[in-house]
Amino acid sequence: MTAPQHPMPSAQLDSEIARRRTFAIISHPDAGKTTITEKLLLYGGAIQEAGSVTAREGTRHTASDWMSIEQQRGISISSSALTFEYQGRHVNLLDTPGHQDFSEDTYRTLTAADSALMVLDAARGVQTQTEKLFAVCRNREIPILTFINKMDRPALDPFELLAQVEETLGIVAVPLTWPIGDGPDFKGVYDLARGEVLVFERTARGKHRAPMQTSGLSDPRLGELVGADLAAKLQQDVELITGALEHFDQDKFLAGTLTPVFFGSAMNNFGIEHFLHNFVELAPPPGPVETNLGERQPTAPFSGFIFKLQANMSKQHRDRTAYMRVMSGHFERGMDVTHTRTGRKLRLSQAHTLFAQDREKVEDAYPGDIVGLVNPGVFQIGDVISLDTKLQLPSFPRFTPETFATISLRDVGKRKAFMKGLTQLAEEGVVQVFYPTDGARDPYLGAVGPLQFEVFQARLAEEYGVEVEMHITGYQLVRWLAGDAGEVSRFARHVEDDQGRPVMLFRSSYDLDYTREQHPEIEFLPLPRDLTKV
Ligand code: G4P
Repeated sequence: MTAPQHPMPSAQLDSEIARRRTFAIISHPDAGKTTITEKLLLYGGAIQEAGSVTAREGTRHTASDWMSIEQQRGISISSSALTFEYQGRHVNLLDTPGHQDFSEDTYRTLTAADSALMVLDAARGVQTQTEKLFAVCRNREIPILTFINKMDRPALDPFELLAQVEETLGIVAVPLTWPIGDGPDFKGVYDLARGEVLVFERTARGKHRAPMQTSGLSDPRLGELVGADLAAKLQQDVELITGALEHFDQDKFLAGTLTPVFFGSAMNNFGIEHFLHNFVELAPPPGPVETNLGERQPTAPFSGFIFKLQANMSKQHRDRTAYMRVMSGHFERGMDVTHTRTGRKLRLSQAHTLFAQDREKVEDAYPGDIVGLVNPGVFQIGDVISLDTKLQLPSFPRFTPETFATISLRDVGKRKAFMKGLTQLAEEGVVQVFYPTDGARDPYLGAVGPLQFEVFQARLAEEYGVEVEMHITGYQLVRWLAGDAGEVSRFARHVEDDQGRPVMLFRSSYDLDYTREQHPEIEFLPLPRDLTKV
């Protein structure tokens, strides 16, 4: 173990930690996550004009899309970490894939976030994918902010939207802004705390900062600005909100039981800057992390954990990247650390941040920051690298696959490349792999949704030059077997996961229940009991 090359005065470390804000966006596909990401980067000064980084006529690209399959489909599959400075804060935005099939990746990314922004479509309210992702955030007890988007389109009543959030998600929703009209009549938002009306003008596709004027609720110009009817409705609404709704409480927000709600239209830049301004004030800086040695405070000596692996991200850099979130202390490029699962010493000289195809070398990083490390093949999800050789994370989330496929190689001569692709893509969480132990057949792939299989197939072909055929099977459930070791090995039906743990696949929950009744001596677990990487 080597001491950091340049020990940092603790006051400087404290202030770097205090100004960090690391968050992720959760939403149902199409609610506007990509657009909001782009606009946040625009206001954060990371890009000059929304969509400018990879803009091409007729196609939809954003700064955070990079893989060709994403471009073909216009969906975001990979995650990236985007960074910008705003009002003296250092903001890290973890870009989570929006498609409902990519949940495992998203779940993992959320483990690296200190807060989450939930984006809802004003016309649709809470949708299925929002519910799933929200549940993960709730599990982790991270604070959640809510942005209700697309107010420029006909929207549900704002009181109804709040009620939906409260009823479906079981969290108190407290508006900090209130919309004035919706659809073609959307005039802006009222800042309830400051008592200001923010009037926005439509701009051409929202490419430039929207002008902003303010005036009070009792300002006679209000009627002129938004029209007499909307002004009267706003006054009524505000009375109702002040009288009947719960008030914002920072402690409840930090405990994850109350969400502050903002309204706007990302596409037209309505409400984004205002949101960002509030976000950096409300959202928490990095806190302690639960480890095998107790809570790790961010001020402790350097440590970080790997939350995501990605292979072959860009054609220029054909390598594998491990994303590390700094848990504690000051990270310096070139520092000597321990990979605590294997005890191996590493020198972290190949560190970079990622912004689409561009890479910048990282010299320093602090708790909450995301650093891309070139993966020499040792990293697994949940691994810790640290100055402290014994530090580990107790567990890391996985999800239970719900659909299963078999694969067969078109060209058996490609077996080696196939196995490499299979292992690496499974490590990234593209799919989960289950191996028949008799070795006679090809493995089963497990996923939450079938699109994951398509991605797997496309990436195998593109990145490893291997063509496979895939067949969706009738299996719907996988259970990890637990109980007395002798009983389990007598019962085990020749399938195991990539760590050699015995599992069983079932065609229906009826099948599972029946087997469970027949074999009370065996436990059938939806996830492996022991996720520790020791
Ligand atoms: P996602 O990442 O959550 O899937 O959503 P994304 O930002 O891609 O937005 C989905 C669609 O909604 C896009 O339209 C986007 O332009 C549109 N959108 C986003 N914010 C707003 C908003 O505030 N108001 C309105 N009216 N639309 C919004 P698209 O037709 O799929 O793509 P595009 O051709 O517009 O780029």
